[in-house]
Amino acid sequence: MSSHLLLGQIITFDGQPSAAAPELAARHEPHGAVLIEDGTISAVDTAQTLRNAHPEAAIVDYGDALISPGFVDTHMHYPQTRIIASWGKRLIDWLNTYTFPEEMKFGDPAYAHDVAALTLDLALQNGTTTLASYCTIHPQSVDALFTEAANRNMRIVAGKTCMDRNAPPGLCDTPQSAHDDSLALIERWHGKGRAQYAITPRFSPTSTREQLEALGALWSAYPDCLMQTHLSEQTDEIAWVKELFPNARDYLDTYETTGLLGARGIYGHAIHLEPREIDRLTETGAAIAHCPTSNTFIGSGLFDLAGLSSRGVPIGLATDTGGGSSFSMLRVMAATYEIAQLRGTALHPAQLLWLATEGGARALHLQDRIGTLAPGYEADLTILDLASKPAIAQRMSRADTIWEALFPTIMMGDDRAIRDVWVAGERVSRAAAAP
Ligand code: GUN
Ligand code: ZN
Repeated sequence: MSSHLLLGQIITFDGQPSAAAPELAARHEPHGAVLIEDGTISAVDTAQTLRNAHPEAAIVDYGDALISPGFVDTHMHYPQTRIIASWGKRLIDWLNTYTFPEEMKFGDPAYAHDVAALTLDLALQNGTTTLASYCTIHPQSVDALFTEAANRNMRIVAGKTCMDRNAPPGLCDTPQSAHDDSLALIERWHGKGRAQYAITPRFSPTSTREQLEALGALWSAYPDCLMQTHLSEQTDEIAWVKELFPNARDYLDTYETTGLLGARGIYGHAIHLEPREIDRLTETGAAIAHCPTSNTFIGSGLFDLAGLSSRGVPIGLATDTGGGSSFSMLRVMAATYEIAQLRGTALHPAQLLWLATEGGARALHLQDRIGTLAPGYEADLTILDLASKPAIAQRMSRADTIWEALFPTIMMGDDRAIRDVWVAGERVSRAAAAP
């Protein structure tokens, strides 16, 4: 049995840090240790305790670095990696100008494999060990991503993007083929190794009601799959949904009346919500993927994290690459902080770290497997250097608490802060992770 003892600072959470007393839910151990046996965390305690109890374990001493659960990116588009940071458009124009032409290329399995491998390596390089990705309409784009993830033993969520209107002909399927292709992919991948399938209608503007209904029926036949889509990202988009679905009560209703609203649904963006939509999200337990770097880059708006959290809506953080302009969940945490500031709330570093780890795992219904430092969890870990560059180090050296020490890395850190990554108990070498 392989056994590693990782030494470093650790933070563990008893639950979601509250806005009123965020530190109460967190425990900090400056000389902590995480024991990994056969891919799983088997103990978390002080370094002294675990060194004495497990003298056989191979020690990996990270000094003052912080041992964190791997980051969880709850919404991204791997086919958009090559068009990240494309200039000057808002959502619908950006899709037509940059995204759709690029997504056409994923009918070629070799291209899909190249970009899938590149994206997963960029994710690991940035400390992200789990992601939920949209693929393209091509089933082979899904095979490519799940295959590359299996090669890296990563726990990921993915699904074939379905569109049957308002997209170029080469990117459209039909209600029937979307259903049948998704079904075949579920049978091939869902629950195989670490793969989880998400039924993936892109968003209401690119699906007919018939297609949404076909995918709703598929979800009710496979209720343990996830379902991911977009909701209320830009005001122009919402006006378009009103035109396309004149009888719908609101945007969410286009999903609700077609069987696509449920607890295992993950709705990307959800910025401009009506009170009824908030009520329905709350009542069903559906999750929102908050994509702050995308929301500022594409000019979408300021997400109400404090308001929706206070209603109990599960929220995960997400890069939304390539609408988002960074692969780094540290950058996403910083943007989450900045947007909350603009809305009058200062999020505590404990809240940000929790959202990027356990919060994301909860949004993806993987909270029993990943996102937490505790015995029995899969050993997906990210080791954060809290002094990764001079600007951070000089501020960190003044810190009196772990939160003051961590916050400069959240606000200013990037892939240089990722000292190491472990996936299913195996160390990912930095050289391999850097494409
Ligand atoms: N809405 C529908 N498709 C997309 C997409 O690819 N990116 C973003 N940001 N929003 C979308
Ligand atoms: Zn998206």
